[in-house]
Amino acid sequence: MDFLEAMQHRFACKVYDSRRVLEDSEIQKILEYGRLTPTSFGLELWSFHVVQGSQKKEALFHACFDQESVRTSAMTLAVLVRTSAFANPDGDLVHSRGKRFPDPLSVFIDDYRPYYDFLRSEGRLDCWLKSQGYLAIANMMTGAAAMGIQSCAIEGFDEKKVLRVLDVSSDQWQVSLLATFGYPAEEERPKIRQSLDSLVTYH
Ligand SMILES: Cc1cc2nc3c(=O)[nH]c(=O)nc-3n(C[C@H](O)[C@H](O)[C@H](O)COP(=O)(O)O)c2cc1C
Repeated sequence: MDFLEAMQHRFACKVYDSRRVLEDSEIQKILEYGRLTPTSFGLELWSFHVVQGSQKKEALFHACFDQESVRTSAMTLAVLVRTSAFANPDGDLVHSRGKRFPDPLSVFIDDYRPYYDFLRSEGRLDCWLKSQGYLAIANMMTGAAAMGIQSCAIEGFDEKKVLRVLDVSSDQWQVSLLATFGYPAEEERPKIRQSLDSLVTYH
C-alpha cells in the first residue's frame, strides 16, 4: 500500500477484533514511525507508553470515558510529553538533547531560547509540547494503515486518570494524545472530507 492508499483506507476504528493481537514486529514498526517523527528543535521531550495488558487497558478504557475502541484494542498507545519546566533552555534535559547536534551547545541554545521565551510569554508552552505528540500519532496511524492495521486517535481522556494508570507523575509528564490500534471488527467507513477547492487558498 502506498502512502495515499494508506491515507484513504485508514479510518477511525471504534471496535476491534479483540481476539487478534498485534505481532511484536508490527508494534515495533509502528513505534519506529513515532520515533522517527520530527519534533520542534529536535528536542524529543516525549515518551511512548504501550498498553497491551487487559487490566491496564480496562483502567485506560475508564480513563477515556469508556470508549470501546480502547477496551477492544490490541494496543493502546499514549504519547506523553514533559511538563513545561523541562523545556527550560537552562535545564539539564534541553542541554543533553542540544548536545547531540553537530554545532556547539551554545549555538543551539542561542537559537532555541528566543522561541522558548516567546512561547512562554504567550502562555503556549504546554500547547507547543503537546502538539508534538499529534504528529507522532498521525505518522503511527498512517503507517499502521499501510500494514492493514486500523487505529483511532483518542483525545477524549481524563488526563489525571491516564497518568495514574500509567503510574507517572504529573510533575514530570502530561498527556499529549492516545491512539488505539488493532484489526477492525467493523467495516471500513468511507471518508467524509471537504473538497480541495473549498479547503485551499493559493497565494
Ligand atoms: C486529535 C483527534 C482526536 C480524536 N479523538 C477521538 C476520540 O476521543 N474518540 C473517537 O471515537 N474518535 C476520536 N477521533 C476520531 C475522529 O472523530 C475521526 O478521525 C474523524 O471523524 C474523521 O474520521 P476518519 O478518521 O474515519 O477519517 C479523534 C481524531 C483526532 C484527529
